[in-house]
Amino acid sequence: MKIAIPTETQVGERRVAASPDTIKSYVKKGAEVWVQSGAGKGASISDDAFAAAGAKITNGGWGEADVVLTVRRPAADLLAALKPGAILMGGLEPYGDKVGLEAIAKAGVTAFAMELMPRITRAQAMDILSSQANLAGYKAVIDAAYHFTRAFPMMMTAAGTVPAAKVFIMGVGVAGLQAIATARRLGAIVSATDVRKATEEQVKSLGAKFVYADIADAATSGGYAKELTAEDKAKQAALVAEHVKTQDVIITTALIPGRPAPVLITEAMVDSMKPGSVIVDLAVERGGNCPLSKPDQIVHHKGVTLVGTVNLAGRLAGNASPLFAKNLANFLDLMIQKDGSLKIDDADECIKGTMIARGGALVHPMFQGA
Ligand code: NAI
Repeated sequence: MKIAIPTETQVGERRVAASPDTIKSYVKKGAEVWVQSGAGKGASISDDAFAAAGAKITNGGWGEADVVLTVRRPAADLLAALKPGAILMGGLEPYGDKVGLEAIAKAGVTAFAMELMPRITRAQAMDILSSQANLAGYKAVIDAAYHFTRAFPMMMTAAGTVPAAKVFIMGVGVAGLQAIATARRLGAIVSATDVRKATEEQVKSLGAKFVYADIADAATSGGYAKELTAEDKAKQAALVAEHVKTQDVIITTALIPGRPAPVLITEAMVDSMKPGSVIVDLAVERGGNCPLSKPDQIVHHKGVTLVGTVNLAGRLAGNASPLFAKNLANFLDLMIQKDGSLKIDDADECIKGTMIARGGALVHPMFQGA
């Protein structure tokens, strides 16, 4: 079995889909592992570190690989080089790009989009959304602190008291929970909101205040949120509008899978905020939770700074890569047999849930005829 890890080619992507630890585990299982020279540079993992773990450093030969591991969807030239039937697994960005998905199918590979991992307990160790969102939540708060012209903790000095910053987290999934914890560690007064009622206890257990409108619980059985009714959207917006006026920093993380991000902070709400306030919009790549935020831009609007950095986890590539790599290794383990061969068990919920293409066609029910 040959496992290949090419350098990521998407602009600004610093992560790599393997770590020395995962390479060692593949080699131990009898695999030959190829890593493209320089693939780990953005994550501060040298070719030497990969080679010491047992990888061969290469610059091609992808057509011989049985398994190709990537962080993001591969470029057309890499897809074209892969042999039919090879396994491609990574963050294949399945939503909203029919042409890109069809290109994966046309390559004839058996492709697994890790974003579609089912939300079951067994899948937690394979969940790239969780491992990356956790880092993004942390980084969002650090970035907010960087752009904020005041301090987060309260400080009592002989020259006067510096008040603690008020930080509001919107969307309490994996990223939001880490954002709450990070802002609390920095000494801020933290509040948070979500449309899933179950998050109330989590917010309170982290020492933050829960802000919740009188709306129907929007949790789905799959662990995600569903879109609110028009009436509930209005109730939530009214509550949020009152709350944001009093806040210094807002981190928005609200997402609904396969749908544009819900607008939670309107332009009028931004106008109501104090000059010097900061909004970090983690949903910016999916349209944004605030219409004023722009992907990979810092927007200044009437004294409020909107930070729209995309791929925040990728900016912590040194941590994000080993975690991502371990998610992939745990998933690939489901397919590696004792004799070192590969077997795809179609009945496995995690395999079935993430397989998007096989034998030249799109096979996932969500994207067939997409
Ligand atoms: P996400 O990234 O899909 O969304 C972020 C948050 O935004 C969610 O909490 C969602 O409820 C919230 N949201 C959506 N619309 C909103 C609105 N209009 N206003 C306010 N908030 C809104 O969420 P994430 O991080 O993927 O986590 C969702 C849940 O799934 C969590 O409970 C998490 O623990 C669970 N989970 C379970 C896994 C497993 O069991 N394998 C793996 C990953 C997450």
